[in-house]
Amino acid sequence: MKILAIESSCDETAAAVVEDGRRVLSSVIATQVEEHKLYGGVVPEIASRRHSESIVGVVREALEQAQLTLSDIDAIGVTYAPGLIGALLVGVNFAKGLSLSAGLPLIPVHHLRSHIASNYITTPDLEPPFLCLVVSGGHTHIIEAKDYTTLRILGKTRDDAAGEAFDKAARAMGMPYPGGIHMDKLAETGNDKAFTLPRPTVEGAPLDFSFSGLKTAVINTLHNAKQKGQDINTADLAASYRKAVVDCLVRNVMRAAEETGHKKLVIAGDVSANSLLRRRLQEECKKTGRTLYMPHLSLCGDNAAMVGAQAYYEYLAGNTAGMELNACAQRSIDLG
Ligand code: KG4
Ligand code: ZN
Repeated sequence: MKILAIESSCDETAAAVVEDGRRVLSSVIATQVEEHKLYGGVVPEIASRRHSESIVGVVREALEQAQLTLSDIDAIGVTYAPGLIGALLVGVNFAKGLSLSAGLPLIPVHHLRSHIASNYITTPDLEPPFLCLVVSGGHTHIIEAKDYTTLRILGKTRDDAAGEAFDKAARAMGMPYPGGIHMDKLAETGNDKAFTLPRPTVEGAPLDFSFSGLKTAVINTLHNAKQKGQDINTADLAASYRKAVVDCLVRNVMRAAEETGHKKLVIAGDVSANSLLRRRLQEECKKTGRTLYMPHLSLCGDNAAMVGAQAYYEYLAGNTAGMELNACAQRSIDLG
């Protein structure tokens, strides 16, 4: 089954053709990041406009790269939630138009489910059940995937998402948007013991996260140094901060693995590209006899190949939509 998939939830306009949920026949991504960088973050109105301008060309290119036409396609998959509402609407409306005109089934896909599905492409024999840490710019979840479309949230952030926590601290340290990746690179050269930072827990909910206090601790460290006229070694601060965020992520997900007994641990989302997170989880899984599955680095960021992968399993589960489909800015991953 060949699915034409569309993604436009944030600042990437993407289209892909994926066969049977695992084989990527084409994948095209038009990123807007350089434009948003000028403003230090994604400007929703600009994102919607750029999606509108790019979507026809991106979808056409995805079909051309796959050497297919619309008549070879069996269904249309589209990210419909969560994300920037104006941005999502561009993809959803375009997908609805294609579905109606070509008479093809329309498959709505949850953005975080598609991030998890990037692992089905990277590791073609990976199958649920498994435990998954989903870490992105907007979300931080520990998920139990019972099957491809039955997902249970075991833990989540109470305030900032991991990516947001990286970006906000990176911005305070003078790095360009999106700061997470810059902080990751700089942290590789720093001493992670140079600064003492907290590892916040959430009382009564040991699998939940809270990153806002940690971010504030870094901002306070920077302000205090500035007031005293002291220079801060940003590589050391980046290394200490990255270690603190990663310690919290690893602590909770390994606890969830112990509690549920899952032997397969999966990571997904843009922040799953973080080099320390990858190394630390690999060590922990080795120590505890678990297997770690990580998306290929090229699939960590937003793309449509992962949407095509998840769309296939949503289709098999009977989760299709009609012309009533609407975009949703917020929707829980367990609801699909
Ligand atoms: O796609 P995106 O804007 O948001 C969601 O899908 O929710 O996520 C991008 C996020 C940014 O916060 C960025 O800083 C972070 O992923 N990120 C990283 C790394 N690469 C991307 N954070 C830490 N380490 C990285 N290597
Ligand atoms: Zn994403």
